[in-house]
Amino acid sequence: MRQSPHASGKTLNLRAQVVKTLLAVQNGQSLASVLNQHMNIVSDKDRALYHELVLGCLRQWHALKQVTLPLLTVPLENPVVETCLYVGLYQLLCTRVAAHAAISETVEASKQLGMESLSGVVNAILRRATRETEQFYDVLENASNLPSWLAKRLKKDWGEQFAELSYELKQVAPLTLRVNTRQVSREEYLDILEDEGIDAHRCELSDVGIVLDESIHVPSLPGFEAGGFSVQDEHAQLCATLVPNLDGKFVIDACAAPGGKTAHLLEKYQPKKLIALDQDEKRLKRVSENLERLILDGKHVEIITADAVKWTAPELADCIVLDAPCSAIGVIRRHPDIRLLRQSGDIAKTVELQKQILENMWQQLKVGGTLLYITCSILKAENEQQMVDFFARHADAQEQKIDVDWGIEQIHGRQLLPKVDHGDGFFYCRIQKTA
Ligand SMILES: C[S@@+](CC[C@H](N)C(=O)[O-])C[C@H]1O[C@@H](n2cnc3c(N)ncnc32)[C@H](O)[C@@H]1O
Repeated sequence: MRQSPHASGKTLNLRAQVVKTLLAVQNGQSLASVLNQHMNIVSDKDRALYHELVLGCLRQWHALKQVTLPLLTVPLENPVVETCLYVGLYQLLCTRVAAHAAISETVEASKQLGMESLSGVVNAILRRATRETEQFYDVLENASNLPSWLAKRLKKDWGEQFAELSYELKQVAPLTLRVNTRQVSREEYLDILEDEGIDAHRCELSDVGIVLDESIHVPSLPGFEAGGFSVQDEHAQLCATLVPNLDGKFVIDACAAPGGKTAHLLEKYQPKKLIALDQDEKRLKRVSENLERLILDGKHVEIITADAVKWTAPELADCIVLDAPCSAIGVIRRHPDIRLLRQSGDIAKTVELQKQILENMWQQLKVGGTLLYITCSILKAENEQQMVDFFARHADAQEQKIDVDWGIEQIHGRQLLPKVDHGDGFFYCRIQKTA
């Protein structure tokens, strides 16, 4: 284990490590890109707390900001001290960390990070929080906890559902597995979990999904190395139920990495050929690794690094799954850093990229073939409106309505919103090529 020293040469305490990670995200780095590197510096016994504090603070970021702002007589304009305050308040309001430890360790962190002169402010505000916990907690509970641009957009798109939606987006998503039914049935795997003393239950919408009732280190679950299951959100698992029978067909998974849906299609069907395409070579490596672990790799699967805006298929496809790059607002529960990273201006660019990929992939589809358009967004611009615009441009496209009892019917497609103990926000629209 490497220790991270601060200016005086002493080792940084855990809260200071948490603040450093949160500062990296504020500087635009994704949590996934810094987490492992930062985690390595933290001692084994502190990792669970480090993880909880980083993810929890990101999850409550804007609410913590709302709690803090009225307490400052002048704006701090000091990201280090502000972040120390959020980390301190999060411990006091949302965890069982003892108040004296939360305060002293966080004040010490502010000193270790070079903010000795402002450590008194951190101390005073955190002590006040221990006296006025109820009031602070109310502000935290009632805050939409979204950046203002996103709250505005979601209110416009989901006026009626907005309050519930902002509550749902603050929650921790369940840990959901997709059983690899080529190896084991869902019932058999539930029995295996029970034998191991692991509490779990069946998903309601996916017939191959299992929700674990407790948080567990996934690789230590039975059958992981042997490819018995994958981790995949319940609503993401619906993809394989919405495509036609793919046995003997030519299929393109146009934005495939890291391969969650590719693998599911191969677990359920035996296509003549499946091309898994993505422009990100590093992420595509994970497709190969996942297919290998699940024993789904074979000669009929081809993994191609290419830009889906320009790429031409070797032959026209029977089915194209287009899990488009998107704002990922529907999966904020699993990636709370999106709250800080995503900017209002990103949305129009993403919508344009989706449109270009759609246009090119549409040219790669056979007449009579099906394209399943998917996003993990809950913004109408990327979903319903994207589809309205697509159908307006394409007389050769006809929607195949998804006739199910889940989600919310849109002008085109169906929208799933994130739900406590259930899946994330996903959008599906099924399109047939008619001419
Ligand atoms: C939502 S993710 C796909 C998730 C994947 N289908 C799964 O289930 O595991 C979107 C993917 O689109 C890829 N992507 C973005 N722009 C692309 C482009 N122009 N061409 C091909 N892939 C692209 C990203 O690298 C990313 O892997």
